[in-house]
Amino acid sequence: PRKIIIDCDPGIDDALALVLAHGSPELEILGITTVGGNVELARTTDNALRLREFLGFGGVPVVAGSAGALLRPRVDAAGIHGGSGLGDALLPPASLPPAAGHAVDFIVETLRAHPGEVTLVAIGPLTNVALAVLREPAIVNWARGLTILGGSYTRGNFSPAAEFNIAADPEAAAVVFGAGWTVTMIGLDVSRGAVTTEAVAERMAAMGRLGADLLLPCVRFYGVITAEGGPAIHDACAIAHLIDPSLITLEPAVVDVETAGRFTAGMTVTDFALRGRVPNALVGTSLDVGRFWDLLLTVYARVAES
Ligand code: BDR
Ligand code: CA
Repeated sequence: PRKIIIDCDPGIDDALALVLAHGSPELEILGITTVGGNVELARTTDNALRLREFLGFGGVPVVAGSAGALLRPRVDAAGIHGGSGLGDALLPPASLPPAAGHAVDFIVETLRAHPGEVTLVAIGPLTNVALAVLREPAIVNWARGLTILGGSYTRGNFSPAAEFNIAADPEAAAVVFGAGWTVTMIGLDVSRGAVTTEAVAERMAAMGRLGADLLLPCVRFYGVITAEGGPAIHDACAIAHLIDPSLITLEPAVVDVETAGRFTAGMTVTDFALRGRVPNALVGTSLDVGRFWDLLLTVYARVAES
């Protein structure tokens, strides 16, 4: 299996991404690092710990990281994910604490220990990843890859121009995109297609405690579900891409992160016209929505039965 570290801010769609990664034999989770984002760090970390015990992957370390952005005041998305960060999901309190140490050190040391083997998957603001790059620039060579859920080349969700994970810490995102590796950017352009329909919710309703205690109270809180539409579970797209790369089409591009714009801070300015430049990103441009949900529902059903 492909070794991964998941840097996250659970977060409803982060939770659904973690279930997907946990239930997929194609992936081996070496650690979960947390960052302040959708809700504050104490809650994203607590949610990661609760999810770990609820899902039963107790051997995987959860390591807390950065509470807020490098240079800016903290923003959150509690209005979308609920005060707890997990909507109406009621997971039992965790009995085990996070691992000692800081997420940034965990990322650096894990990549150092397995050069060329570990893919970093970032589905929250990029603060921890940027600090890891600044601490040890060689991680860009040690990592097998970096896949993010974030950015957009069409429209924003935090602002007209910016997606939440980039807007929450634009300076960190600029460091990450400028670090010398090729960032796989799965952005809103793709993830907005990953909508939870009523048919999906019906399948989740047949998944025992996983459906009743986690999946449904998350997605029903996240948005109104109808036959055609519903909330998009963005973060699961980044994990799905690693399980089955054929689900998302990638195109090379040069991506610059706007940090100075009055109206555009956090915009991922994406140039598909390379004009001789070396691309710093592979950008998701389309999602096979049908096969995406086939994968998720198959994995979720397997987790529900285990
Ligand atoms: C991203 O923002 C967060 O609210 C979600 O968890 C996801 O990572 C989508 O823009
Ligand atoms: Ca997230």
